[in-house]
Amino acid sequence: MEMKRLLVSFVLLWLATVAAAAPFAILKSLGRGHRMKSLYEFEDGSGFVADLEVIQHTDTYGPDVGALRIIARYNADEQMHVHITDSSSSRWEVPRDLLPRPSALETSLQAQSSPQRQLQLSYTAEPFGFAVTRIATGETLFNSTPPAHPSEEAAFNSMVFKEQYLEISTQLPRNNSLFGIGESTRPDGLRLTRGRTYTLWATDMAAYTVDVDLYGAYPFYMDVREGGATHGVLLLNSNGMDIYVGQDLLTYRVIGGVLDFYFFAGPTPLAVIDQYTKLVGRPAPMPYWSLGFHQCRWGYDNIDDLKDVVESYKKANIPLDTIWNDIDYMEACKDFTLDPIRYDEKKVRNFVKELHANGQQYVLILDPGISVAYKDYITLERGLKENIFLKNEFGNNYLAQVWPGPVYFPDFLHPKADSWWTTEVRDFFNKVPFDGLWIDMNEASNFCSGNQCSFTPESLTVFANKSDSSNNECVLQCVEGASRFDDPPYKIDHVGKYSSIGDKTIAMTVKHWNGVLEYDAHNLYGLSESIVTQKALTTVTQKRPFVLSRSTFVGSGAHTAHWTGDNKATWEDLKYSVASIINSGMFGVPMVGADICGFAGNTTEELCSRWMQMGAFYPFSRNHNAIGTIPQEPYIWESVAESSRKALGLRYRLLPHLYTLMFEAARSGAPIARALFFSFPEDHNTLAIDHQFLLGSSVMVSPVVAPGHTTVDAYFPKGTWYNLFDFTKITSTGEKHTLAAPADTINVHVHEGQILPMQESRLTSAEVKSTPFTLIVAFGESSYATASGKLFVDNGVDQEMEVRDGSSTFVQYFAERSSYAGSLVGRVISGDYALAQGLVLQNIKLLGVSHSPNFVTVNNNRISSPKHLNYDKKPSCLEISGLNVTVGRDFEINWHADGLRLASQ
Ligand code: GLC
Repeated sequence: MEMKRLLVSFVLLWLATVAAAAPFAILKSLGRGHRMKSLYEFEDGSGFVADLEVIQHTDTYGPDVGALRIIARYNADEQMHVHITDSSSSRWEVPRDLLPRPSALETSLQAQSSPQRQLQLSYTAEPFGFAVTRIATGETLFNSTPPAHPSEEAAFNSMVFKEQYLEISTQLPRNNSLFGIGESTRPDGLRLTRGRTYTLWATDMAAYTVDVDLYGAYPFYMDVREGGATHGVLLLNSNGMDIYVGQDLLTYRVIGGVLDFYFFAGPTPLAVIDQYTKLVGRPAPMPYWSLGFHQCRWGYDNIDDLKDVVESYKKANIPLDTIWNDIDYMEACKDFTLDPIRYDEKKVRNFVKELHANGQQYVLILDPGISVAYKDYITLERGLKENIFLKNEFGNNYLAQVWPGPVYFPDFLHPKADSWWTTEVRDFFNKVPFDGLWIDMNEASNFCSGNQCSFTPESLTVFANKSDSSNNECVLQCVEGASRFDDPPYKIDHVGKYSSIGDKTIAMTVKHWNGVLEYDAHNLYGLSESIVTQKALTTVTQKRPFVLSRSTFVGSGAHTAHWTGDNKATWEDLKYSVASIINSGMFGVPMVGADICGFAGNTTEELCSRWMQMGAFYPFSRNHNAIGTIPQEPYIWESVAESSRKALGLRYRLLPHLYTLMFEAARSGAPIARALFFSFPEDHNTLAIDHQFLLGSSVMVSPVVAPGHTTVDAYFPKGTWYNLFDFTKITSTGEKHTLAAPADTINVHVHEGQILPMQESRLTSAEVKSTPFTLIVAFGESSYATASGKLFVDNGVDQEMEVRDGSSTFVQYFAERSSYAGSLVGRVISGDYALAQGLVLQNIKLLGVSHSPNFVTVNNNRISSPKHLNYDKKPSCLEISGLNVTVGRDFEINWHADGLRLASQ
């Protein structure tokens, strides 16, 4: 059956291609693609293997790889895999130990148990092309065969496969919306812009530089078709590439590796992310405390500065969970050292002890470059002994320059890097028991360019005399390489073509373990460092690790959180951060934030206030700025303190919801911060909403993103929404509403149908953890309405985050109401943790209850005391307080408005 379908597709598409052959004759320079030489279909019907040969050799961008092999198969009902490579010699691929994925055998076993296929594959034999179709609708999702009637817009070549240049395109409908492909800062908003090239090359380029390749690389996009059906496409390739998004085509131009495509059927945005993260790795659960607020800056000169900050937060009554140290703590910017004067070890230890006693945490930065300018530096010595540093083409340790001056870069692909790094982390942890690690500059950033660099005593003197703001100028003597890797035949649009790919990073000819070239592995440096750091922290602390990485790749979310890098204290940067945060979630890295109040440049009171409000709802919420800029901790200005108390107050009350979202993310990849179209894919308007976001499925944040505004025009998808500060209601048919947004106010609403678990606000997440719970139940307006929600709690630091007897509690809530009656039930799936901790549900706020009830029962016992019942007609809210229901046990609450009125009414 499957085979017939393939053969029919083959004949039809072949005919179509023959008829359309003429127009492609003009695309001489890149040849005429490939023809299929042989075909073998798997007996289990899961796909085929075919050999391809190039039709006409050309020299543009180097010689063709003459013979190719394609393996195309269904990996699962909802996933298809197409892998194309040289059939005679092996090529670079993303290593399986960095990104584990099923082997061919596992794949074929999965495929056999896949009776409900959602995708259909077909191909043309000459020129070779393949297409992926959604079976349910017959819609073509990807089609690499050139169209019969190509538009004028851009060349649609048949596939090109050369040593250092791969090109493949897909036809696109004009009315779809594309999302993803990163990392870059997007002034145009979330949706990919037609007519733009997106370049993927990990680069230390400040995030305020818009529309260029930044720190991470994600060749993954989501395609939302008219009507909302969504699929995803991943090209699993770590080489540099340009992805051109045209009006009716999308073209990949890649400078190495293989064509390794995964197609995810969706058909909802959440299902796409579920399928994608199932392949590339589920997001790592982060410790509970990391959902609290973080303060950082580059320029906390000494330990007293840190103490001051922590004190001042307390005095100002602003929540603070974690204080961070940038490179200031180090002696001469050397990893795993403390400056003996400014950060005296004893004082630092005492400080960390106090922090821990107050339920607060301490996170430190590490850069990958290991200083080579000083004698008796044990970290360097042990690295040299283990021989784990990157090598230049002559086999010597590769010299580069970063903050400490001359450095060697560890090769995190080296099998011994792991134990070396773990030793360094352990030794340092024994001095200072930090709670998490921040790994920066790991694109890797180098202040010099070149494959052969050296330094003299004079260069060190020049370096030593530089001020903080100019110590990123190269003082090494370097020779720039001119090999085909330094200067590949096709130039990707790296930083708008201002740079060549080896500029200010590790030279392209540098070798990793086993001869792997930097040229191929460049985009994986951050991922490999994250993996090793996550392992080291787990081994050393025996707790759930917290790692924050600047450079990331597909699969990084399984190891690290991410921040969006060096933004600027401008209103534009505040505004663009929404798309950056949402994108990271789509890439499988849901624990993400931008530097609140802006990293570079001086912030202003108003900007910082609005940024604290918005940033209070980033999944990872951290205020951070650069050395030399004015202080911007929220207590500096009373107005900022006020708006921070208010916004962070709500964040801390929402911690049970955020933590449950973290649990969902770890289980299904579901982003914590999401675009509106994730919950309302059928509402076309949501596709263009760039400055609002959802936390989970139903909490919507509508920030002010421009100066001088005291209102915000926010889009409300259809339904009833309740303001989480005052429970006022907005009922929308899917339109914009102008909301009051005075200086101290951000608008946060919950959509009907949601039950939100909340606790009480405190100054640390540790304190929140034992406070009584409140459930917010948001009903819609129809005469019969339902709502549901979830709660996950555990101790927040165990390595596993699972529904497990003994160590966690998972509860599902359901509520329904008719005009005069309703019920709310809690069903405990596992309850031990909440029981052991004595967690209690104290209050319930039922929103959208239009009649004051006069009969309320809790677990069949009537609430007779009216002081525990409060009905407010204006927001139609019934509040039941003083419940004392155990969170770890099932419960049922019923209310109705028949019969006798309560004594007080
Ligand atoms: C990089 C980081 C920034 C950090 C600075 C100093 O610019 O992106 O966050 O403060 O280095 O370490």
